[in-house]
Amino acid sequence: MSEPSPFPPNFSIATPHLKIHPFDPSNPAHCTFLVELWNTEDFISSCGKTGINTLAKASEFLQRRAIADYVRNGFGMFLLSRQSDMKLIGTVSLTKGAPPDPHYLAPDVGFSILPEENGKGYATEAAVGLLKYAKAQLGIDAVFGFCSAENKRSCRVLEKIGLEFRGVKCLKVFGGQQSAVYASPEMSPDLGVYGLEE
Ligand SMILES: CC(C)(COP(=O)(O)OP(=O)(O)OC[C@H]1O[C@@H](n2cnc3c(N)ncnc32)[C@H](O)[C@@H]1OP(=O)(O)O)[C@@H](O)C(=O)NCCC(=O)NCCS
Repeated sequence: MSEPSPFPPNFSIATPHLKIHPFDPSNPAHCTFLVELWNTEDFISSCGKTGINTLAKASEFLQRRAIADYVRNGFGMFLLSRQSDMKLIGTVSLTKGAPPDPHYLAPDVGFSILPEENGKGYATEAAVGLLKYAKAQLGIDAVFGFCSAENKRSCRVLEKIGLEFRGVKCLKVFGGQQSAVYASPEMSPDLGVYGLEE
């Protein structure tokens, strides 16, 4: 049976220009937006194809993954609306896998912004806002950031939000694929203690 979202109706986290709010798998506007965002050339060239290309698939994915993350962790992938016109402009996430899937012990932060809204500081503002919320409300102060080392914009955002570059590593959790690894400055130099193994 589908689990309900643990967030109260109209829950949001405000940042200077944006509203960070939970996905609702039964809201067609949320599902349509996810399909649009994840099928832009920009997203596919940076993150690959997700196969989420219909409203039904988006709704099923959001229920199975996003809502399950909210229930299990109190965080997950959120929508971003611009406050001035309420346009949906992207997503910001804090996600953490769980056994039996490959996982590590600190959550990682991620973001995606519509191509036409790039370069306006939105990914940075959203990630800062979500991390502030996670620290104040959930006591989370250790987070990872992962991206392809070629994804310079994403690397730059991870630096701007205060994460420290810890090298390019072939991580077991990504099937041995190379990733630039960023971590909160206070995290141990030995990332193996967080279950992150090469
Ligand atoms: C990565 C992404 C989220 C950035 O969103 P954004 O809202 O444009 O990010 P911001 O405006 O907050 O910051 C972008 C920074 O990258 C810089 N930048 C842009 N292109 C760059 C490049 N080719 N090389 C280096 N830095 C670059 C910008 O100048 C800016 O830094 P600055 O403030 O110091 O000038 C967005 O481009 C995106 O959605 N890409 C596709 C999906 C993706 O890659 N997600 C991340 C997966 S790990």
